[in-house]
Amino acid sequence: MNNVTRRQVFKSAGLLTAGFFLSTSTTRALAQAAAPAPTGPHKLPALPYDFGALEPHFDAKTMEIHHGKHHAAYVTNLNKALADYPDLQKMSVEELCLNLDKVPEKIRTTVRNQGGGHYNHTFFWQCLRPEGGAGPDGAFEQALGELFVDQETGLKMFVERALAVFGSGWIWVSLDKDKRLILETTANQDNPLMSGRQPVFGLDLWEHAYYLKYQNRRVDYVIAFNRLLNWEFARTRWEKLMA
Ligand SMILES: [Fe+2]
Repeated sequence: MNNVTRRQVFKSAGLLTAGFFLSTSTTRALAQAAAPAPTGPHKLPALPYDFGALEPHFDAKTMEIHHGKHHAAYVTNLNKALADYPDLQKMSVEELCLNLDKVPEKIRTTVRNQGGGHYNHTFFWQCLRPEGGAGPDGAFEQALGELFVDQETGLKMFVERALAVFGSGWIWVSLDKDKRLILETTANQDNPLMSGRQPVFGLDLWEHAYYLKYQNRRVDYVIAFNRLLNWEFARTRWEKLMA
């Protein structure tokens, strides 16, 4: 990271530290986002909020294209790849990601990319909430503290790792096999499941997720995520995985 970018990150981190781990609590009515249903076992899930519900941090047009075009294409292409494999059609997308070694080599890369894209986006939509909601507390906050030390350090670590991803990929806070929280990144549409870990929350770092609003300013997009992270979803998922 060059000096200008680093200064920008830390300046922004200082301004927004409170938002990263302690967002204001706001609720909104959930809305169903209509979407065409691809043929096959895998379906495009409805967004749990309106396209414009994450404004001004994530703009409505990006959300509409991201969900209705990009995510939909992953679902469609996954169904196409599985068309001649009835046994694989019975597996959930999570099971496919966990068991790529059982997928025939002929379609393995396609299932990895398209199935990963479907799982990742389905997961990602749940990681977002208008205004984020209340920050973590209790045992989950303590576990996060073991990874991130404190709020300010945590945001800096998250932003720096996100900026360090070259090209397209994802950043995750995951649970490793010892049930410890780790910060990791994956390339393309890979995810922690493919390496035997479980995501707790994650952020899409593909340009299609932010370019309309933020252009080349990935740092601003990552910090905007800070305002939208659904801590209730992350805590609930962490508790379920730890049980
Ligand atoms: Fe995406």
